Amino acid sequence: MSDEFRPNIIGFACQWCAYQSADLAGTLKYEYPSTIKLIRVPCSGRVDSAFVLEALALGVDGVFVAGCPEAECHYRFGNRIAKIRTAMLRNILPEFGIESARLRFEHVSSSDAVKFVEFAKEFDKQIRKLGPTPLRGDKHE
Ligand code: FES
Repeated sequence: MSDEFRPNIIGFACQWCAYQSADLAGTLKYEYPSTIKLIRVPCSGRVDSAFVLEALALGVDGVFVAGCPEAECHYRFGNRIAKIRTAMLRNILPEFGIESARLRFEHVSSSDAVKFVEFAKEFDKQIRKLGPTPLRGDKHE
């Protein structure tokens, strides 16, 4: 089943760093999985818990939030808030029957296209291994 499974992944990417690194990856013709759909946000701290929970409730197989490197957030500590928020959400996801591994936070610098691509590939692989979200039932097949 996992071989044929094509996940649906949402990445909330800070416009100052992760989103730019993805853009740079495209410019450099570095490929990352097309299963990942990026949503540009002004800062990772802007990603409300409700956005993440709604995406998962709608049947998205994996969600990540990518923010600026530690101490480089343009809004001082938005990335720290996002990291803590993500960790808290990961703790409660099992209560809804969702594996914590379906949600991640990552720091990515704007110039680090390689890190973005490596992270994207690794996360895609992780979600493929988990299989379709339990909230989607058999709609995936
Ligand atoms: Fe990039 Fe805050 S501005 S994480």
